[in-house]
Amino acid sequence: MDKRFKRTTVTSALPYANGPVHIGHLAGVYVPADIYVRYLRLKGEEVLFVGGSDEHGVPITIRAKKEGVTPQDVVDRFHNLIKDSFKEFGISFDVYSRTTSATHRKVASDFFRKLYDDGKFIEKTSEQYYDEEAQQFLADRYIVGECPRCHAEGAYGDQCEKCGSTLSPEELINPVSKLSGAKPVKKQTSHWYLPLDQHEGWLREWILENHKEWRPNVYGQCKSWLDLGLQPRAVSRDLDWGIPVPVEGAEGKVLYVWFDAPIGYISNTKELCDANPQYGNWEKWWKDEDTRLVHFIGKDNIVFHCIVFPAMLKAEGSFILPDNVPSNEFLNLEGDKISTSKNWAVWLNEYLVDFPGKQDTLRYVLTANAPETKDNDFTWKDFQTRHNSELVAIYGNFINRALVLTQKYFDGCVPALGELSDYDKETLKEFADVKAKMEQLLDGFKFRDALKEAMNLARIGNKYLAETEPWKLAKTDMERTATILHIGLQIAANLAIAFEPFLPFSSERLRSMLAMDSFCWSQLGQIDLLKAGDKLGKAELLFEKIEDDAIDAQITRLANIKKENEANNWQPDKIKPETTFDDFMKMDIRVGTVLDCQKVPKADKLLQFKIDDGMGGRTIVSGIAQSYAPEELIGQQVCFIANFPTRKLKGVESQGMILLAVNNDGKLVVISPSKKTANGAEVG
Ligand code: MF3
Ligand code: ZN
Repeated sequence: MDKRFKRTTVTSALPYANGPVHIGHLAGVYVPADIYVRYLRLKGEEVLFVGGSDEHGVPITIRAKKEGVTPQDVVDRFHNLIKDSFKEFGISFDVYSRTTSATHRKVASDFFRKLYDDGKFIEKTSEQYYDEEAQQFLADRYIVGECPRCHAEGAYGDQCEKCGSTLSPEELINPVSKLSGAKPVKKQTSHWYLPLDQHEGWLREWILENHKEWRPNVYGQCKSWLDLGLQPRAVSRDLDWGIPVPVEGAEGKVLYVWFDAPIGYISNTKELCDANPQYGNWEKWWKDEDTRLVHFIGKDNIVFHCIVFPAMLKAEGSFILPDNVPSNEFLNLEGDKISTSKNWAVWLNEYLVDFPGKQDTLRYVLTANAPETKDNDFTWKDFQTRHNSELVAIYGNFINRALVLTQKYFDGCVPALGELSDYDKETLKEFADVKAKMEQLLDGFKFRDALKEAMNLARIGNKYLAETEPWKLAKTDMERTATILHIGLQIAANLAIAFEPFLPFSSERLRSMLAMDSFCWSQLGQIDLLKAGDKLGKAELLFEKIEDDAIDAQITRLANIKKENEANNWQPDKIKPETTFDDFMKMDIRVGTVLDCQKVPKADKLLQFKIDDGMGGRTIVSGIAQSYAPEELIGQQVCFIANFPTRKLKGVESQGMILLAVNNDGKLVVISPSKKTANGAEVG
């Protein structure tokens, strides 16, 4: 490690406890953090790995409201689910606690109070949206309205999901409260602000001058924030879920979730150290200049970890600052952005049901394809290919050959090393520098490339056995066979070490198959890890092939979700803003009977209807050819908008619009009166 430091505190972003965790979380934050920590531990370094759930904030209250339960119910459920998922995937936290813990409440509260007492905040009064019916100030997410940029309905006070613009609630056209549906009013409220503008000077120098080694995506984002000029940021909110602001007269105000959550890293360290003296005093992990602090996060968290949290730590005065903030970009799923609300994700708890015991495969694929420098795509086909043609065909195949042949010809004992051939020497030379290469990459947070080096070692082993063919030699030259397998087994032992940070479960199995007691990083590259005569453990397959049907099932599952999403315009939280009676009355909706129906030529979605509308008849074109055959509707009654502007569709003039429902399977359904009705009858 860097000579300036004695130990490392590694944190990984605290996930919101408002849903299970998915592959995007794992790829972006937790697998890289875990690889790094395991690597440091293997090197025998002093390291602490801190995690936990982020249990405050509006996403939690929204979920609670939707389900009609309390926020505490929500976080209790998901904290445990998330914690279990991490454990099952081998994410080796020293502590995984939560921001609703008593320790955290006190640590965060004291932290705020110290800054308050030291005059590090400014207090400002401003006007914010207030819901008079619900008697509550409205968080950004609780206000919806028309997007000022793309004019989509249902944009949130902080963001329009249609066009992706970042918004502030004041910009929304016709804002409506999501709590009561009322039109919000502006009301004065006062809050405490961290004056980031006052911190700009040292932040600039610290990041832009002294941390040029940060990843380009991180450095670049910081630079653009700093170049825009920093503004004071509110650190309190008018909300009833969170840690109360510990100041007299601040009733109804809580700490802003982005103020309390990063302090969670500190509280969780304290909770661990107080209960487990072997970790030492918590302060050495946070206040000692000999400690190196590293935050693993996703790219939407960069500003908070590189600017806001460091400013908080600096203002407090006794803490160290992060030495690096390796942030990943995003992982997409089959070409689309992962989305919790659209269920467009591979959930870790579900993955384990479908692929039991295959944690390492996911860790492997997510690392081999990690979004380290740009957004990347996870596809099930790639998952299958990487598993079958890399883990099974190279790594697994090599290990299996080495062990099974040793079993067969040497009774499961490590054979003796004889004289080395030129090819043996060449092979050994090839792998001698793997350790140095891997270290350089791991120290530089280049986990994808480091994994490639480990896989390369497996390739070297696989090739070695394929070319020396000990299974043939065994018939004629036992001594040579012994040497080859001896070398093969030493390579296998090296693989257990090289892969441990990445594939801990497989390394553990391999370690036991090779009957190694334990291993450490410094042994990597050595060829005396096993002694001639040592009895090996039982040989098992390290990886088993993934068949097409398992992959097809996943692809079908996603296709169905996509279809449902396309049909789901009726989601309760996507209700359009309130309309008026007058607007409703403007529509002239009538009943008619389908006299004739035909496909519109050269249009695969359109049907052309002849309707008896009780007024002499009309033609209407409707885009329902994928849900109905033309003859299905002849003779049926339908409802249609009679005063809809006439339009030409594929050359056919359409005089109105037929009313349809979109079903949750994506199919369209024609709306008909429940009993025979006069043609031309008005609907309303
Ligand atoms: N819960 C936040 C998110 O998922 C991350 C919080 S990181 C911490 O984006 F620093 F605040 F803990
Ligand atoms: Zn928009």
